[in-house]
Amino acid sequence: MSHLFPTYAKWEVEPESAKGSYLTGIDGKTYLDFTSGIGVCNLGHCHEEVKAAIEDQLSKFWHVSNLFPVGVQEKAADLLAAASGMDLVFFANSGAEANEAAIKLARKATGKTKIITFLSSFHGRTFATMSATGQDKIKHGYGPMLETFEYVPFNDIEALENQLTDDVAAVMLEVIQGEGGIHVGTKEFLQKVEALCKEKGALLIVDEIQTGIGRTGTPFAFQQFGINPDIISSAKGLANGMPVGAIAAKEALKEYFGPGSHGTTFGGNPLAMAAAIKTMEIIFNESFLQEVNEKSEYIMSALDGKLGQNMHVKDIRGKGLMIGIEMDQPVGDILSELRKDGLIVLPAGNNVIRLLPSLTCIKEDIDKAVEILEKRINFFTKVTV
Ligand SMILES: Cc1ncc(COP(=O)(O)O)c(C=O)c1O
Repeated sequence: MSHLFPTYAKWEVEPESAKGSYLTGIDGKTYLDFTSGIGVCNLGHCHEEVKAAIEDQLSKFWHVSNLFPVGVQEKAADLLAAASGMDLVFFANSGAEANEAAIKLARKATGKTKIITFLSSFHGRTFATMSATGQDKIKHGYGPMLETFEYVPFNDIEALENQLTDDVAAVMLEVIQGEGGIHVGTKEFLQKVEALCKEKGALLIVDEIQTGIGRTGTPFAFQQFGINPDIISSAKGLANGMPVGAIAAKEALKEYFGPGSHGTTFGGNPLAMAAAIKTMEIIFNESFLQEVNEKSEYIMSALDGKLGQNMHVKDIRGKGLMIGIEMDQPVGDILSELRKDGLIVLPAGNNVIRLLPSLTCIKEDIDKAVEILEKRINFFTKVTV
């Protein structure tokens, strides 16, 4: 019997090792990994330069506490602030913790408590971030949620207008909803959200936990929509696999997070910081991001070409290397068949196959993945529908 709580319906592949876009199981079989640890290992598994940065820090010190000034935290904060256009950073250990910090900061800075989020959003599993999430299925059995969250349909500006009153502290959103099904916000909607927030004195929080760190072809996805949030949250890809989370916010919010107002033992851990610095140095680079955009165009047109005609494929959408293939049926069985074919991908919602390849994948990896997807999806839809 496993002594782990069965909180995850585990796959049958147990990894022995992983490198770049590939993962080898203890059964000796090699898989093309188009999950990147759910959008975490954006530079691929065991990236050599990130590994060297961690090893260098490993021989200096691992943990000293946040009572000390820590140079690697300062440097990581500089890089994050510069790439996001923000001024101040707080480091945590995970996405949910980053969003907790964002929620606390917004409530304290505005003196208001109501926060609007969107249906199908996902913001984490702590009490506040679970309450923020616009999906009932993750709340089941936990009793009353925090009452200060309200949910409106995504991309529906009228619904937001009706809800966004003067007593709202913040609007919190993913510009592309990841877990909820790769729903891309429209530029028009997101710009109106920002304008409404300004009008009503609410802060705009953008959750960039899945979309950030180059995943969509820019350092952060909000940068493609011409909006200017007050706070962003980041995690997942920030340190290429070392646990980390962060918020980055505007200078005007500085006084609300003074000494003693918020904290964490492990947040900003030096090993995670060393990994984050190297990861950001590599990804926040014009030519690197240009390649991500080229790969994005390549995979999108290959998927359109091979699957666009299948009547059971409802839509192929996304940005950069965050891609959803929406089917007219649940995708769980297709995903397990794909693993047998040697390709590991994710679901998003019930009906969407989600691809989050490493940003360093090469065209041959994309060709291989598209070929497997084409064969399996065409075969599956022929025999099951
Ligand atoms: C958009 C978004 N926000 C928050 C989270 C929660 O992050 P974590 O699992 O690191 O707490 C996730 C994780 O999937 C996410 O995709």
